[in-house]
Amino acid sequence: MSAPTLVAHGIRCLGVLGAGQMGMGIAMVSAVRAKVPVLIYDRSPEQVKKGLSLMDKLLDKDVNKGRLTTEQAKEAKERVEVVGAEAALKGLRDVDMVVEAVSENLQLKQAIFASLAAELRPDAILATNTSSISITKIAASAIPEGLKASSEEGKKAASRVVGLHFFNPVPVMKLVELISALQTSQETLDRARSFAIACGKEVTVSKDVPGFVSNALLMPFLNEAIMHLEKVGFNLIYHISYQVMELMTNKGIATRDDIDTTLKLGMNHPMGPLQLADFIGLDTCLAIQNTLYQGTGDSKYRPAVLLERMVDAGWLGKKSGKGFYDYN
Ligand code: CAA
Repeated sequence: MSAPTLVAHGIRCLGVLGAGQMGMGIAMVSAVRAKVPVLIYDRSPEQVKKGLSLMDKLLDKDVNKGRLTTEQAKEAKERVEVVGAEAALKGLRDVDMVVEAVSENLQLKQAIFASLAAELRPDAILATNTSSISITKIAASAIPEGLKASSEEGKKAASRVVGLHFFNPVPVMKLVELISALQTSQETLDRARSFAIACGKEVTVSKDVPGFVSNALLMPFLNEAIMHLEKVGFNLIYHISYQVMELMTNKGIATRDDIDTTLKLGMNHPMGPLQLADFIGLDTCLAIQNTLYQGTGDSKYRPAVLLERMVDAGWLGKKSGKGFYDYN
């Protein structure tokens, strides 16, 4: 198959929705590599503050390591602007593309895409960084009320929605997965691909199936690692519930450190599966695993009970200070 022709992405200003680890990473590579102005919006001002200070630190490190000049880092910082709470999504009105990176929740994403479709210019691309949710479902929510999905206007409205799936940590990981909804136009796909390449990423393509290629392969692996652990008495979880404790009696396969070390040293993985799950966020892992389970109906995707209980406990991994490891 011949390589796709690179078209001009035409993105003069990017909007990013959500200032978590993914949103800030996407804002950073867009400002540093694609050199486009970025408007970032998050309903939590504290989250934006945290995200901007992390980005500043990473840019300063790039300067210290000689990967960017002081001037380039300053320019990149100046390219990122925050949209205030009063303006909210209206503040993104003039962007050429928005990348949504809020939590993995279909209803939330559908509400956001309905608002974006109403606020943004009709030629703006609406991209989602979802890790597993159907792009086709999200695209359907970008059709203004009263328009039929099968009408020409309805099809056009949904045709600008695309999946643009970055990996964590975004400044380091070289991949973007591009996913077409049933409704996505070729022009939207081509421009989104070009933008990802301008951000310094290599692009792979997946059909719109639960988890796409990346998480349909990764999540069962992480879940299986958690199932191996839950069969050992996992001390930290003992006091949460008697049923969980029962599930974990004397069937041990291996400890946390043995599971992670096996994969790190035996298979040359940069981090073990339990550490990686912490790093991604256990709530995100659970949401993806549930999408795979519900989307396929296949019991091989049933989330580990221990994963559910840890999320119930608010132990979400690195971002909450506690997961399979402690981060305080
Ligand atoms: N943001 C920016 N940079 C980061 C970072 C972060 N969160 N974490 C680490 N880095 C940087 C480090 O600062 C370091 O940069 P320098 O060259 O300036 O030192 C570089 O990455 C390498 O880091 P370290 O030397 O500290 O540590 P490492 O060698 O262990 O590498 C890692 C860190 C690159 C994250 C590596 O552990 C790794 O590849 N881990 C696996 C990551 C992975 O699989 N990500 C995909 C998750 S799945 C996903 O995101 C999609 C989804 O849908 C769930």
